[in-house]
Amino acid sequence: MAEHSKGFRGFRPCGYRISACFPNVGLGRFKGLVSTTFIFFTIILIAALVNIWTDINVIQDYSIFQLISAPSRNNTKRHHERIEFSLNCSEPGSPQKCLETYPTSSFEPDESSSKTCPDYFRWIQEDLKQWKSSGITEEMIERGKPFAHFRLVVVEGKAYVEKYRKPYQTRDVFTIWGILQLLRLYLGKVPDLDLMFNCEDKPVILKRDYQGPNVTSPPPVFHYCADKDSLDIVFPDWTFWGWAEVNIMPWENMLSAIKKGRQRTKWEDRVPYAYWRGNPSLSVGRKELLKCNLSNNHDWNVRIYRQDWRKQSKEGFKNSKLEDQCTHRYKIYIEGRAWSVSEKYILACDSMTLVVKPKYYDFFSRSMVPLHHYWPIRSNSICKDVKFAVEWGNNHTEKARAIGKAGSKLMEEFLAMKNVYDYMFHLLKEYAKILKYKPKIPPNAKLVCEETMACSEEGLVKKLMEQSMVKSPSHKLPCSLPPQYEPHHIQSLLATNEDITRQVETWGDEYWRQQRK
Ligand SMILES: *[C@@H]1O[C@H](CO)[C@@H](O)[C@H](O)[C@H]1NC(C)=O
Ligand SMILES: *[C@@H]1O[C@H](CO)[C@@H](O)[C@H](O)[C@H]1NC(C)=O
Ligand SMILES: *[C@@H]1O[C@H](CO)[C@@H](O)[C@H](O)[C@H]1NC(C)=O
Ligand SMILES: *[C@@H]1O[C@H](CO)[C@@H](O)[C@H](O)[C@H]1NC(C)=O
Ligand SMILES: *[C@@H]1O[C@H](CO)[C@@H](O)[C@H](O)[C@H]1NC(C)=O
Repeated sequence: MAEHSKGFRGFRPCGYRISACFPNVGLGRFKGLVSTTFIFFTIILIAALVNIWTDINVIQDYSIFQLISAPSRNNTKRHHERIEFSLNCSEPGSPQKCLETYPTSSFEPDESSSKTCPDYFRWIQEDLKQWKSSGITEEMIERGKPFAHFRLVVVEGKAYVEKYRKPYQTRDVFTIWGILQLLRLYLGKVPDLDLMFNCEDKPVILKRDYQGPNVTSPPPVFHYCADKDSLDIVFPDWTFWGWAEVNIMPWENMLSAIKKGRQRTKWEDRVPYAYWRGNPSLSVGRKELLKCNLSNNHDWNVRIYRQDWRKQSKEGFKNSKLEDQCTHRYKIYIEGRAWSVSEKYILACDSMTLVVKPKYYDFFSRSMVPLHHYWPIRSNSICKDVKFAVEWGNNHTEKARAIGKAGSKLMEEFLAMKNVYDYMFHLLKEYAKILKYKPKIPPNAKLVCEETMACSEEGLVKKLMEQSMVKSPSHKLPCSLPPQYEPHHIQSLLATNEDITRQVETWGDEYWRQQRK
C-alpha cells in the first residue's frame, strides 16, 4: 500500500484501512483540528524558514557573519564597539582573575525590532504564574535552599555563585557556564537577579507540600524539568553546552554532526524498525520497553540496544555516537528517571519518533504536537503500539517521513541555540521583574567568569567550554516575547493533543482487533 498524498495539505493521518479510519462520531472535529494544526504549523514553518537560516550558527560563526554583513552597513560607530571575547588564562600557579574590561552599557544591537519567539516561550509566564501576584521575596528564595545545588546571583552583569551541594557529574558546571554565555551574548541586558537551581533528575517543588491553610508559599526553584504535580521553573539543561562524562558535544556541534549523520542513509533505506539505545535500568517504562525487543517468541518491530556507559567510555565512545544512530526509520523516546536529554538528539534524526507518553516536560516539549512532530505511544501498551506504528509507517511512508521531518525541523529551528539563549533571557527577565528586592551578592558567593571556570579545567571539559563559548555579543535583539497563554488557550491546546492521541490509540486498538480475527 503505497502512500500518494504529498505534503501537509493532503495529509490525512489515517489508519491502516481507510474504511476503518473514521468510524466514530466527532471525527469531523478531529479532522478540523488536524488540518487547522497543519495549516497553522505550515505557516509558522514558512515564516520561520524565511528568517531562521540567518540565525542558525550565528553564535558560533559570529565573526564570519560580521565580515559578511559589515561592509553593507554604515557601522562606523559600532565597529569601535565590537567586542571579541577571549579566554585569558593567567600563568599556571598564579590565581585566576576575571577580566573586567568589557563595557556592558554602551552595546547596541544592529536592529531595532525583532521577530516573535517560538510558541514554547508562551509557557514562561505560566511557569512563573505561581509568584506573579505575590512577587518573590528574598525569604522565599532562601526557603528554596534545601532543594538547591547552587544559588546564582547576577548583579550589574556579573554572576556570583554559592554552591550548596555537589550534583551528579558536571551538571552544575555546565549550567552555570551556560548562564555566563548568556551574559556575554546579551552583554549588559540581563537584569539583576537571584535564583536557586536544582540539578537533579526529578522535580523538587511538589504542589502537594504547599496546599492547605497553614502552609508557606512555594519557593521558586529552577530545574530542568517539571510535571503536573510540581512547580519547578523549567530551564535548558546542561547538555546544550556539553556533557563531558559521556562525550556529548555542545548542542550546536551535536546538531550539525547529526545533520551530517542522517544524510548517510536516506529514510527509505533505513532499517524499517523502531530503534532505541540507552540505559534500560533507569525506569519501569524502560524495563517494559526492553520486553518488546526481538526474541525467538515475538517480533514487535523493536530493536533495543543496551548502552553500557562504562564500556563505551573505555572504548572512547566509538560505538555510541549519536550521529551514527540515524539508521532506523523509527526511533523511540522514553523517559528515564525523569525527562531525558536524549529527546532532542532522537528527534533530530529525521526518523519518525515514537514517544512513549511522558510524565515530565522540559522547556520546549510542551509545544510538540502528536502526529505532527511525533507518534504517541501508550506507556501501558508499548509493544503493541510500537508494532502498529511501525507497520503503519511502512505502509504510509510519505506520512511517516513527514512526521520525522517535522520533528527534526522543530529541533533545528525552535531549538537553534539563539532561541535557547533567548528563552533563558526572557525567562530570567520575567523572573527578575517579580523579585521584590534588589538582589545583592550573598556573603558566601564567589564571582564566576569564563576564566575562573575554564582555565583550571583540562581535557574534554575545557574543550566543551571552548566550543560552546560565546565569542562576541549578539548584534541581534532577542526575539520578542509572544503574549502569554490564557487559560482557555492552554485548555484547548491540551484538548487538541489529547484528541489526536486518542485517535491514534483507537487506530491501534482497531488494528489489533483485526489481527485477532
Ligand atoms: C499494512 O499493509 C498490509 C498489506 O496491505 C496490511 O495487511 C496491514 O494490515 C497494514 N497494516 C497497517 C498497520 O496499516
Ligand atoms: C556613516 O555615519 C556617520 C555618522 O553617523 C556619517 O558621518 C557618515 O557620513 C556615514 N557614512 C556613510 C558612508 O553613510
Ligand atoms: C590577558 O591578561 C594579561 C594579564 O592579566 C594582560 O596583560 C593581557 O593584556 C590580557 N590579554 C587580553 C587579550 O586581554
Ligand atoms: C497552623 O499554624 C499555627 C501557628 O503556627 C499552629 O499553632 C497550628 O497548629 C497550625 N495548624 C496546622 C493544621 O498545622
Ligand atoms: C535486542 O535484540 C537484538 C537482536 O536480537 C540484540 O542484538 C540486542 O542485543 C537485544 N538487546 C538487548 C538489550 O538485549
